[in-house]
Amino acid sequence: MYGTEEVEGKVAIVTGAASGIGRAITELLVARGAKVLAEDIDPAVESLAGPNVVPLVADISADGSAEKAVALAIERFSQLDLLVNNAGIIINKLVVDMSRADWERIIDVNVTGAFLHSREAMKAMIPRRSGAIVNVASYASYFAFPTIAAYTASKGALAQLTRTLALEAIGHGIRVNAVGSGDVLTNILNTVAADGNGVAALAAHGESAPIGRAADPKEIAEVVLFLASARASFMVGSVVMADGGMSVKVGS
Ligand SMILES: NC(=O)c1ccc[n+]([C@@H]2O[C@H](COP(=O)([O-])OP(=O)(O)OC[C@H]3O[C@@H](n4cnc5c(N)ncnc54)[C@H](O)[C@@H]3O)[C@@H](O)[C@H]2O)c1
Repeated sequence: MYGTEEVEGKVAIVTGAASGIGRAITELLVARGAKVLAEDIDPAVESLAGPNVVPLVADISADGSAEKAVALAIERFSQLDLLVNNAGIIINKLVVDMSRADWERIIDVNVTGAFLHSREAMKAMIPRRSGAIVNVASYASYFAFPTIAAYTASKGALAQLTRTLALEAIGHGIRVNAVGSGDVLTNILNTVAADGNGVAALAAHGESAPIGRAADPKEIAEVVLFLASARASFMVGSVVMADGGMSVKVGS
């Protein structure tokens, strides 16, 4: 019942594939024999093009992007087995300083983009009665930090989308789960770090986790691939924490 191949021969859509965790997920999927439709708003995603990777430059929150991603994956690779809703953005602003446009952009990308892609992926997966969706959530799905209210609200919503969609999907043979990531050394804070060095900020914050460090993106990709694989066959609607213990510590 359980092969060692896990994702070999599977076809995946990975959003936010140009950088950080999404790039690591894409590379790990391909290394283990999967094919990937790699979607990102950043044209740098085109550098991933190859026999097993089709890049798509698109804003995941825009009307039509999800439809395009699913159609292209099926056109190029004949099927769709896995969707990884990974793309995400953050801003650092107190609520009193936050514009409606600031708020809506975070929610549009982090939640609405995942909703739109999940909806279109489900339409392709339901007739085949199989598939998996993995969302990249955060310890910020549960815990609060000043200045990132839009982000924490979006990640809380993503966790609830995961659970609710999981209940709707499992009857069709489709499992929906999420990873609750801790600090990971990526570019996500580059636009908000005072000195532009978001990687250093994440490394410093990661030191406050019980494990004493931030993660390499591959450590989160491993959890995503596990949730995508038949090894996670009994997991439905879980938000699996991979955060170096950040979410279970009390005090400093
Ligand atoms: N890095 C961390 O510490 C951390 C912690 C918890 C959760 N996460 C989550 O991990 C996910 C990946 O983030 P990362 O840390 O790898 O950041 P990253 O900035 O390195 O990568 C995010 C990618 O998403 C893309 N993207 C952003 N908006 C997009 C849009 N509208 N349409 C398409 N692509 C878009 C970016 O261009 C980028 O390539 C995010 O959902 C983030 O919230 C990250």
